[in-house]
Amino acid sequence: MSHERALYGGQTDAETSQRRLTINDIVAAKTRNEHWPMITCYDALTAGVFDEAGIPLLLVGDSAANVVYGYDSTIPVTVDELLPLVKAVVRGSKRSMVIADLPFGSYQSSPAQALETAARFMKEAGAHAVKLEGGARVLPQVEALVAAGVPVMAHLGLTPQSVHALGGYRVQGRGESGQILMQDAKALQAAGAFALVLELVPADLATSVTKSLAIPTIGIGAGSGTDAQVLVWQDLAGLTPGAKPKFVKQYADMRSVLSNAVRTWADEVASGAYPDESHSYK
Ligand code: KIV
Repeated sequence: MSHERALYGGQTDAETSQRRLTINDIVAAKTRNEHWPMITCYDALTAGVFDEAGIPLLLVGDSAANVVYGYDSTIPVTVDELLPLVKAVVRGSKRSMVIADLPFGSYQSSPAQALETAARFMKEAGAHAVKLEGGARVLPQVEALVAAGVPVMAHLGLTPQSVHALGGYRVQGRGESGQILMQDAKALQAAGAFALVLELVPADLATSVTKSLAIPTIGIGAGSGTDAQVLVWQDLAGLTPGAKPKFVKQYADMRSVLSNAVRTWADEVASGAYPDESHSYK
Protein backbone atom coordinates (compact mmCIF):
# COMPACT_ATOMS: atom_id res chain seq x y z
CA MET A 1 0.00 0.00 0.00
CA SER A 2 1.49 3.39 -0.95
CA HIS A 3 1.84 6.07 1.74
CA GLU A 4 -0.90 8.08 0.03
CA ARG A 5 -3.33 5.19 -0.27
CA ALA A 6 -2.63 4.25 3.31
CA LEU A 7 -3.34 7.66 4.81
CA TYR A 8 -6.45 8.16 2.72
CA GLY A 9 -7.81 4.92 4.18
CA GLY A 10 -7.76 2.97 0.93
CA GLN A 11 -9.84 5.51 -1.02
CA THR A 12 -8.84 6.10 -4.63
CA ASP A 13 -7.20 9.29 -5.89
CA ALA A 14 -10.46 10.27 -7.59
CA GLU A 15 -12.37 9.99 -4.36
CA THR A 16 -9.90 12.09 -2.41
CA SER A 17 -8.67 14.61 -4.98
CA GLN A 18 -11.39 17.12 -4.16
CA ARG A 19 -10.38 17.77 -0.61
CA ARG A 20 -7.44 18.44 1.66
CA LEU A 21 -6.38 16.04 4.33
CA THR A 22 -7.52 16.99 7.82
CA ILE A 23 -6.29 16.30 11.32
CA ASN A 24 -8.99 13.59 11.53
CA ASP A 25 -7.31 11.68 8.68
CA ILE A 26 -3.95 12.01 10.41
CA VAL A 27 -5.17 10.79 13.78
CA ALA A 28 -7.26 7.98 12.20
CA ALA A 29 -4.18 6.70 10.35
CA LYS A 30 -2.64 5.89 13.72
CA THR A 31 -5.53 3.59 14.60
CA ARG A 32 -4.70 1.65 11.39
CA ASN A 33 -1.00 1.59 12.30
CA GLU A 34 -0.10 3.39 9.05
CA HIS A 35 3.20 5.14 8.48
CA TRP A 36 3.32 8.32 6.41
CA PRO A 37 5.65 11.15 5.41
CA MET A 38 5.67 14.88 6.12
CA ILE A 39 8.12 17.03 4.19
CA THR A 40 9.24 20.62 4.56
CA CYS A 41 8.19 22.98 1.78
CA TYR A 42 8.74 26.68 1.15
CA ASP A 43 7.42 27.58 -2.30
CA ALA A 44 4.58 26.93 -4.74
CA LEU A 45 6.50 24.85 -7.30
CA THR A 46 7.81 22.27 -4.87
CA ALA A 47 4.43 22.30 -3.09
CA GLY A 48 2.88 21.13 -6.37
CA VAL A 49 5.49 18.41 -6.78
CA PHE A 50 5.05 17.10 -3.23
CA ASP A 51 1.25 17.38 -3.37
CA GLU A 52 1.14 15.40 -6.63
CA ALA A 53 3.49 12.84 -5.08
CA GLY A 54 0.85 12.30 -2.40
CA ILE A 55 2.77 13.71 0.55
CA PRO A 56 -0.05 14.32 3.02
CA LEU A 57 1.54 17.03 5.20
CA LEU A 58 3.68 19.96 4.06
CA LEU A 59 5.53 21.77 6.83
CA VAL A 60 6.61 25.33 6.19
CA GLY A 61 9.30 24.92 8.79
CA ASP A 62 11.27 27.69 10.41
CA SER A 63 14.14 25.77 8.80
CA ALA A 64 13.35 28.29 6.05
CA ALA A 65 15.69 30.43 8.14
CA ASN A 66 18.56 28.24 6.92
CA VAL A 67 17.49 26.94 3.52
CA VAL A 68 15.62 29.98 2.19
CA TYR A 69 17.08 32.97 4.02
CA GLY A 70 20.65 31.77 4.69
CA TYR A 71 20.69 32.40 8.45
CA ASP A 72 22.90 30.06 10.49
CA SER A 73 20.07 29.03 12.86
CA THR A 74 16.29 29.21 12.98
CA ILE A 75 16.32 31.93 15.62
CA PRO A 76 16.39 35.07 13.41
CA VAL A 77 13.53 34.20 11.03
CA THR A 78 10.38 36.29 11.53
CA VAL A 79 6.64 35.88 11.05
CA ASP A 80 6.78 38.39 8.20
CA GLU A 81 9.47 36.35 6.46
CA LEU A 82 7.55 33.07 6.83
CA LEU A 83 4.07 34.34 5.90
CA PRO A 84 4.72 34.66 2.13
CA LEU A 85 6.23 31.15 2.06
CA VAL A 86 3.14 29.67 3.73
CA LYS A 87 0.91 31.53 1.27
CA ALA A 88 2.88 30.12 -1.65
CA VAL A 89 2.75 26.55 -0.35
CA VAL A 90 -1.01 26.76 0.22
CA ARG A 91 -1.51 28.15 -3.30
CA GLY A 92 0.74 25.51 -4.83
CA SER A 93 -0.96 22.51 -3.23
CA LYS A 94 -4.42 20.99 -3.48
CA ARG A 95 -4.68 18.03 -1.16
CA SER A 96 -1.85 18.31 1.36
CA MET A 97 -2.43 19.81 4.76
CA VAL A 98 -0.12 22.82 5.25
CA ILE A 99 1.44 23.41 8.67
CA ALA A 100 2.99 26.78 9.53
CA ASP A 101 5.88 26.77 12.01
CA LEU A 102 5.62 29.55 14.59
CA PRO A 103 9.07 31.16 14.69
CA PHE A 104 11.10 31.97 17.79
CA GLY A 105 9.69 34.90 19.73
CA SER A 106 6.25 34.74 18.14
CA TYR A 107 4.46 32.60 20.78
CA GLN A 108 6.59 32.19 23.91
CA SER A 109 5.45 35.37 25.68
CA SER A 110 1.83 34.39 26.27
CA PRO A 111 -1.14 32.39 24.98
CA ALA A 112 -2.48 35.67 23.56
CA GLN A 113 0.71 36.20 21.56
CA ALA A 114 0.53 32.61 20.27
CA LEU A 115 -3.07 33.10 19.18
CA GLU A 116 -2.29 36.40 17.47
CA THR A 117 0.55 34.79 15.50
CA ALA A 118 -1.40 31.66 14.61
CA ALA A 119 -4.33 33.81 13.45
CA ARG A 120 -2.01 35.66 11.04
CA PHE A 121 -0.78 32.39 9.55
CA MET A 122 -4.34 31.12 9.16
CA LYS A 123 -6.06 34.33 8.01
CA GLU A 124 -3.31 35.90 5.89
CA ALA A 125 -1.63 32.78 4.54
CA GLY A 126 -4.29 30.05 4.71
CA ALA A 127 -2.35 27.64 6.94
CA HIS A 128 -4.37 24.64 8.14
CA ALA A 129 -2.45 24.13 11.39
CA VAL A 130 0.54 25.51 13.27
CA LYS A 131 3.57 23.94 14.93
CA LEU A 132 5.39 25.20 17.99
CA GLU A 133 8.34 23.93 20.01
CA GLY A 134 8.52 22.97 23.68
CA GLY A 135 6.93 20.98 26.49
CA ALA A 136 5.49 22.09 29.82
CA ARG A 137 6.31 25.74 29.22
CA VAL A 138 4.06 26.01 26.16
CA LEU A 139 1.05 24.06 27.48
CA PRO A 140 -0.98 27.27 28.08
CA GLN A 141 -0.26 28.30 24.50
CA VAL A 142 -1.37 24.91 23.13
CA GLU A 143 -4.56 24.99 25.21
CA ALA A 144 -5.41 28.52 24.09
CA LEU A 145 -4.83 27.73 20.43
CA VAL A 146 -6.85 24.52 20.54
CA ALA A 147 -9.67 26.30 22.40
CA ALA A 148 -9.70 28.88 19.60
CA GLY A 149 -9.97 26.16 16.95
CA VAL A 150 -6.35 26.10 15.81
CA PRO A 151 -4.90 22.62 15.20
CA VAL A 152 -1.52 22.42 16.93
CA MET A 153 1.44 20.19 16.13
CA ALA A 154 3.87 19.98 19.04
CA HIS A 155 7.67 19.48 18.86
CA LEU A 156 9.93 17.87 21.49
CA GLY A 157 13.50 16.59 21.70
CA LEU A 158 15.98 18.80 19.89
CA THR A 159 14.02 22.02 19.54
CA PRO A 160 16.28 24.18 17.36
CA GLN A 161 14.84 27.47 18.60
CA SER A 162 16.40 26.59 22.00
CA VAL A 163 19.76 25.53 20.55
CA HIS A 164 21.72 27.88 22.81
CA ALA A 165 19.92 26.68 25.95
CA LEU A 166 20.44 23.04 24.90
CA GLY A 167 24.17 23.58 24.29
CA GLY A 168 24.10 22.64 20.61
CA TYR A 169 22.42 20.32 18.12
CA ARG A 170 22.62 17.12 20.14
CA VAL A 171 20.49 14.08 20.92
CA GLN A 172 17.91 14.80 23.64
CA GLY A 173 16.15 12.52 26.13
CA ARG A 174 18.99 10.17 27.00
CA GLY A 175 18.90 8.83 30.57
CA GLU A 176 16.53 10.40 33.08
CA SER A 177 15.59 13.31 30.82
CA GLY A 178 13.69 10.73 28.78
CA GLN A 179 11.06 10.64 31.54
CA ILE A 180 10.57 14.39 31.30
CA LEU A 181 10.18 14.09 27.55
CA MET A 182 7.57 11.34 28.05
CA GLN A 183 5.66 13.52 30.57
CA ASP A 184 5.79 16.49 28.21
CA ALA A 185 4.49 14.35 25.35
CA LYS A 186 1.51 13.17 27.41
CA ALA A 187 0.82 16.70 28.64
CA LEU A 188 0.90 18.09 25.09
CA GLN A 189 -1.56 15.41 23.99
CA ALA A 190 -3.82 16.26 26.97
CA ALA A 191 -3.58 19.96 26.04
CA GLY A 192 -5.02 19.08 22.63
CA ALA A 193 -2.06 18.78 20.24
CA PHE A 194 -3.03 16.62 17.23
CA ALA A 195 0.49 15.38 16.47
CA LEU A 196 3.98 15.51 17.94
CA VAL A 197 7.34 15.93 16.20
CA LEU A 198 10.19 14.10 17.95
CA GLU A 199 13.57 15.41 16.81
CA LEU A 200 16.93 13.78 17.61
CA VAL A 201 15.82 11.43 20.38
CA PRO A 202 16.93 7.83 20.98
CA ALA A 203 14.89 5.38 18.90
CA ASP A 204 13.75 3.38 21.96
CA LEU A 205 12.39 6.49 23.66
CA ALA A 206 10.58 7.62 20.48
CA THR A 207 9.01 4.16 20.19
CA SER A 208 7.83 4.25 23.82
CA VAL A 209 6.37 7.73 23.40
CA THR A 210 4.63 6.63 20.19
CA LYS A 211 3.09 3.62 21.95
CA SER A 212 1.97 5.79 24.88
CA LEU A 213 0.11 8.36 22.79
CA ALA A 214 -3.13 8.25 20.81
CA ILE A 215 -1.91 11.11 18.58
CA PRO A 216 0.69 10.40 15.88
CA THR A 217 4.39 11.04 16.39
CA ILE A 218 6.51 12.33 13.52
CA GLY A 219 10.18 11.49 13.81
CA ILE A 220 13.30 13.22 12.53
CA GLY A 221 16.38 11.46 13.80
CA ALA A 222 14.12 9.42 16.11
CA GLY A 223 14.38 5.94 14.57
CA SER A 224 11.75 3.81 12.89
CA GLY A 225 9.25 3.45 15.73
CA THR A 226 7.38 6.72 15.18
CA ASP A 227 4.11 6.89 13.24
CA ALA A 228 5.49 9.24 10.60
CA GLN A 229 8.78 10.71 9.39
CA VAL A 230 9.78 14.23 8.37
CA LEU A 231 12.84 15.53 6.53
CA VAL A 232 13.91 18.87 5.14
CA TRP A 233 13.41 18.39 1.39
CA GLN A 234 16.75 19.91 0.38
CA ASP A 235 18.50 17.33 2.60
CA LEU A 236 16.77 14.28 1.12
CA ALA A 237 17.12 15.65 -2.43
CA GLY A 238 20.84 16.36 -2.05
CA LEU A 239 20.68 20.14 -2.51
CA THR A 240 22.09 21.04 0.91
CA PRO A 241 25.91 21.31 0.82
CA GLY A 242 28.30 19.82 3.35
CA ALA A 243 28.06 17.12 5.95
CA LYS A 244 24.57 15.96 6.93
CA PRO A 245 23.33 14.58 10.24
CA LYS A 246 23.33 10.76 10.52
CA PHE A 247 19.52 10.56 10.13
CA VAL A 248 19.50 12.18 6.69
CA LYS A 249 19.23 9.73 3.80
CA GLN A 250 19.95 11.33 0.44
CA TYR A 251 17.60 10.13 -2.34
CA ALA A 252 18.93 12.30 -5.18
CA ASP A 253 21.86 14.54 -6.08
CA MET A 254 20.05 17.73 -7.02
CA ARG A 255 23.05 19.89 -6.26
CA SER A 256 25.04 18.19 -9.05
CA VAL A 257 22.07 18.07 -11.42
CA LEU A 258 21.36 21.79 -11.00
CA SER A 259 25.01 22.78 -11.03
CA ASN A 260 25.64 20.81 -14.26
CA ALA A 261 22.56 22.32 -15.92
CA VAL A 262 23.47 25.90 -15.08
CA ARG A 263 27.14 25.43 -16.04
CA THR A 264 26.16 23.94 -19.40
CA TRP A 265 23.79 26.86 -20.03
CA ALA A 266 26.48 29.36 -19.04
CA ASP A 267 28.97 27.69 -21.44
CA GLU A 268 26.40 27.80 -24.25
CA VAL A 269 25.69 31.48 -23.60
CA ALA A 270 29.42 32.17 -23.77
CA SER A 271 29.87 30.17 -26.97
CA GLY A 272 26.73 31.53 -28.63
CA ALA A 273 25.15 28.06 -28.85
CA TYR A 274 22.21 29.34 -26.78
CA PRO A 275 19.76 30.58 -27.89
CA ASP A 276 19.65 28.78 -31.26
CA GLU A 277 16.88 29.10 -33.82
CA SER A 278 14.63 26.60 -32.07
CA HIS A 279 14.63 28.78 -28.94
CA SER A 280 14.03 32.09 -30.80
CA TYR A 281 10.93 33.74 -32.33
CA LYS A 282 10.40 34.74 -35.97
O1 KIV B 1 11.61 23.70 10.78
C1 KIV B 1 11.60 22.51 10.43
O2 KIV B 1 11.90 22.17 9.28
C2 KIV B 1 11.22 21.52 11.42
C3 KIV B 1 11.32 20.09 11.05
C4 KIV B 1 12.72 19.69 10.90
C5 KIV B 1 10.56 19.22 11.96
O3 KIV B 1 10.83 21.88 12.49
